[in-house]
Amino acid sequence: MTIQLSYEVVKNDFFKAGEASSNIKKVLRQLGIPSDLIRRVAVATYEAEMNIVIHSDGGEIILLVTPEKVQITALDKGPGIADIEMAMKEGYSTAPQEVREMGFGAGMGLPNMKRCADEFEIKSSLGNSTEVTIIIRI
Ligand SMILES: Nc1ncnc2c1ncn2[C@@H]1O[C@H](COP(=O)(O)OP(=O)(O)OP(=O)(O)O)[C@@H](O)[C@H]1O
Ligand SMILES: [Mg+2]
Repeated sequence: MTIQLSYEVVKNDFFKAGEASSNIKKVLRQLGIPSDLIRRVAVATYEAEMNIVIHSDGGEIILLVTPEKVQITALDKGPGIADIEMAMKEGYSTAPQEVREMGFGAGMGLPNMKRCADEFEIKSSLGNSTEVTIIIRI
């Protein structure tokens, strides 16, 4: 059995932000995925979703569940990341002041995603889309 679902994520829409990750959490519960795995998926997905809201021009989160794994792909429309190694560092953030005032911008999202994942991959370059793939083995 394989399930694939995708959720649109809109740039700067802080009202709807978090919906994709909370919907994915519900789906995984219904599928009977163990709760410790769901927690890791939910944390990583929420961080990926907020990065699309805050740092990108919008995109989508794609959930793939197979008997072996839960895979989250966060794909956006740009503007891309110039220096991925820098972006992966704890504490590095380009979040603007008004977003920091909402409690984001600690520069912990990407390192957290990596910590939650069994496999983590980020593909990006300046002027292009960013694609983050997070795999959690079942
Ligand atoms: N989808 C994206 N598109 C463009 N740049 C991104 C994207 N995701 C992350 N970045 C860049 O990488 C930096 C680090 O991201 P990370 O999620 O670790 O921290 P943050 O989003 O700034 O703060 P936090 O996640 O702690 O609220 C961001 O500040 C931004 O410059
Ligand atoms: Mg972030």
